[in-house]
Amino acid sequence: MTRRLSLLTAAFAMSVMACSPAMAQDADPDAIIKYRKGVMSAIGAKANALAAILKGDVNLPDALGPNAEALAASTNAAVITGAFRQNTDGQGNERTTATAKIWEDWDRFEKASNDLQAAALEVNKAAAAGELTSFDQLKPVFAQCGVCHKDAGFRD
Ligand code: HEC
Repeated sequence: MTRRLSLLTAAFAMSVMACSPAMAQDADPDAIIKYRKGVMSAIGAKANALAAILKGDVNLPDALGPNAEALAASTNAAVITGAFRQNTDGQGNERTTATAKIWEDWDRFEKASNDLQAAALEVNKAAAAGELTSFDQLKPVFAQCGVCHKDAGFRD
């Protein structure tokens, strides 16, 4: 094999590896930013749905359980931290409010994500037991939003 051909073969092998879904390769920055905004919007939608029911703005008690389950699923560690693992600071054209602090202080970000999951699991447990009756029980969940969005400065 000529040297040029072997280089081409190596480049081709690398490009095939980069396309393999089994490997955790970085995504296009715009794709991962869009994905993570969708992840966050889903969390916001479920938390707000529960709040609307518990505050009595809408009379849908039967929807408490499914919404609580969806909130617990959407705050799963693989869902949140998976969406942010790739450092996109200064990359892509998609609008993002994620700050560089996320990747500078990843341990704190991961802890905030786990704390939100724990709070959501408590809410889901109460709902499954038919004991989710007051907006106050949602407060630990909303407190966790503030940890990332304000206290830790993970969001502009
Ligand atoms: C582990 C940290 C963390 C926690 C906890 C967290 N968020 Fe976020 N959230 C972020 C970051 C970072 C962004 C910015 C994402 C971006 O623009 O790329 C964001 C963005 C959002 C957005 C805007 C999405 C968009 O389309 O731009 C909403 C809505 C949102 N979060 C809702 C919530 C709610 C509601 C909670 C609590 C139930 C919550 N988040 C908890 C880190 C967090």
